[in-house]
Amino acid sequence: MSRLTKAMRATAIEVQAALDTYIPRSKASDRRLFEAMRYSTLAGGKRLRPFLVLNSAALFSVPADWAMPSAAAIEMVHTYSLVHDDLPAMDDDDFRRGKLTCHKQFDEATAILAGDSLLTLAFEIISAPSGHPEAEVRAELVQALAAAAGGLGMVGGQVMDLAAETSDSALDLEAVTRLQAGKTGALFRFSCAAGAILAQRSGAEREALRAYSDHIGLAFQIADDLLDVEGSEADMGKAVGKDADAGKATFVDLLGLEGARARATQLADEAVAVLEPFGNKADLLRDVAHFIIERRN
Ligand code: IPE
Ligand code: IPE
Ligand code: MG
Ligand code: MG
Ligand code: MG
Repeated sequence: MSRLTKAMRATAIEVQAALDTYIPRSKASDRRLFEAMRYSTLAGGKRLRPFLVLNSAALFSVPADWAMPSAAAIEMVHTYSLVHDDLPAMDDDDFRRGKLTCHKQFDEATAILAGDSLLTLAFEIISAPSGHPEAEVRAELVQALAAAAGGLGMVGGQVMDLAAETSDSALDLEAVTRLQAGKTGALFRFSCAAGAILAQRSGAEREALRAYSDHIGLAFQIADDLLDVEGSEADMGKAVGKDADAGKATFVDLLGLEGARARATQLADEAVAVLEPFGNKADLLRDVAHFIIERRN
């Protein structure tokens, strides 16, 4: 097993335990809501964004119990984005993480509300005094997560993604880059910024992490688009072969399979290069850059 696989497995177990503690188990009338939140969040997934939070924090020797709230929070925001992304009004998917999507297992209203509630719970967790001891740091985390999740971040990218499906004119490379930097890149940006925020670092190191996250975020979505064409449903745990039919604007669409692969490799190489200032301490983050473009799910 590679050192990255080993580290990702260990992190996934810790993150699972944290998510399990953070998401309440309610016995009251809202039980169905919490069941849906737990169903989608505890279903698995690569836990890549929490891995980035914990490993960007480790670069600055931030204690893990300061970083775990941000790791769990970004996974909740990510899971909410998937629950809503799968709804009939958006991508209309039946399978996610190898299981029925939230609205199929429960119902549409419950899936919408479970997503809403995961989003708000994320902010409750990163603002809680039990995390970082300094209120200013917690406020900066809140600001960064809000910016990543909102209309100029993930939601904005989703809007462009859906608009492209019905638009008469195809998006050019610049527009697809902007779309993907929003819908996928923004949550990666928070994940890597969290370490620097928790450590109260600014300047060159923070900039390097920012560049790293922009490169891997884009590479990650290009790989997702390639896997939609070349991957298998069994490996991915979700439907494949849907983007072209739906009229999605992707790099594969614009550059072809070869061109998209080449662009993803170039981005991964650039991501590795910008980690230079961190030396060996960033080896796992370097491994992540390669994993992102080589993954099968
Ligand atoms: C899927 O993200 C959605 C995209 C942004 C492409 P992941 O591939 O990280 O999904 P999980 O968390 O492992 O299920
Ligand atoms: C999803 O992108 C991005 C977000 C959920 C924000 P996709 O629609 O390509 O993700 P999959 O392929 O359904 O996982
Ligand atoms: Mg989508
Ligand atoms: Mg989708
Ligand atoms: Mg996709």
